[in-house]
Amino acid sequence: MKILVTGGLGFIGSHTVVELQNEGYDVVVIDNLANSSTQVLDGIEAISGKRPAFEELDLRDKSEVEDFFKRHSNLNGVIHFAASKAVGESVQDPLLYYENNLGVLTYMLQNLITTDRANFIFSSSCTVYGQADEMPITENAPVKAAESPYGNTKQVGEEIIKDTCKVNPQLNAIALRYFNPIGAHPSAEIGELPLGVPQNLVPYITQTGMGLREQLSVFGDDYPTEDGTCIRDYIHVVDLAKAHVVALQRLMDDKNEENFEVFNLGTGKGSSVLEVIASFERVSGEKLNYKIAARRAGDVVQAYADTSKANEVLGWTAVSTLDDALKSAWIWEQKIRS
Ligand code: WQD
Repeated sequence: MKILVTGGLGFIGSHTVVELQNEGYDVVVIDNLANSSTQVLDGIEAISGKRPAFEELDLRDKSEVEDFFKRHSNLNGVIHFAASKAVGESVQDPLLYYENNLGVLTYMLQNLITTDRANFIFSSSCTVYGQADEMPITENAPVKAAESPYGNTKQVGEEIIKDTCKVNPQLNAIALRYFNPIGAHPSAEIGELPLGVPQNLVPYITQTGMGLREQLSVFGDDYPTEDGTCIRDYIHVVDLAKAHVVALQRLMDDKNEENFEVFNLGTGKGSSVLEVIASFERVSGEKLNYKIAARRAGDVVQAYADTSKANEVLGWTAVSTLDDALKSAWIWEQKIRS
């Protein structure tokens, strides 16, 4: 069975390629290396004993996408990670996001609907919920006006797929709404490689722990939560990767009830920023240098998943704890800086 993984050298993509290869799938990776490097192929091979086929392509070139699908007409499934994902950058450069996240998605789908049966997994995000009214968040929670072009591309991306599935029964798609992916493979052969100053909490924590950053700023401790800091659902990237394989197998085994389905992927547990810091200090034995700073625009107060649909329908449950994830992130950070 041959699977295309776009963005397969990125953080979540590379961990998913490992899990696919562990399950015996043949994988072909497309990546434009904008936010990754071919060294990740070495890490994937070191873990799973196989080096996936790799093509450096920019999917924004429609003819490149068409040519790829002509050369690979025997794909059994596609997992589409390739997209830009920095919230702040999307505000500054919306057209980059609409072209890279939606234009590319359109080209992919235009090719997939020409096949007899396409199995398509789409990388979506809990960001589509905005500040949900109720916790934990179920898949039926209303999709709210996006707070950023990035978030909008996830909402519109899902709509594009849903509309396409409606008139193309041969297209079978699952959108996976990630909560907050963190951590690294326990082998420390692959992990998160944020470019520049990390925007996300956990890589900023581990870089501060390594002394690459002077001090972590906690963006606000005056929120209406127990300790005043924001709450998120931090899910180990390996648990997240495994969910992609399970979702793909659901489509390949033709077990999906609808030809467009949505699943939340989280642990079902909310953790505050201060609790994440405490977890880091526990697993690293290091005291973290942080200060309380002003709130960050666009942050929601809390977001954690109701995971019952993925648990019951996919038969998938996240198994790693917050400490497991922080420990793997810390080991990875130490390795790449050694
Ligand atoms: C988590 C918490 C911050 C950094 C974003 C995207 C989401 C997904 C994951 C791509 C918040 C606080 C952070 C720091 C801090 N991205 N924080 N100091 O914002 O929940 O989600 O990344 O798919 O779509 O929106 O994650 O890690 O940026 O922030 O206090 O230096 O940590 O305020 O409460 P977020 P995050």
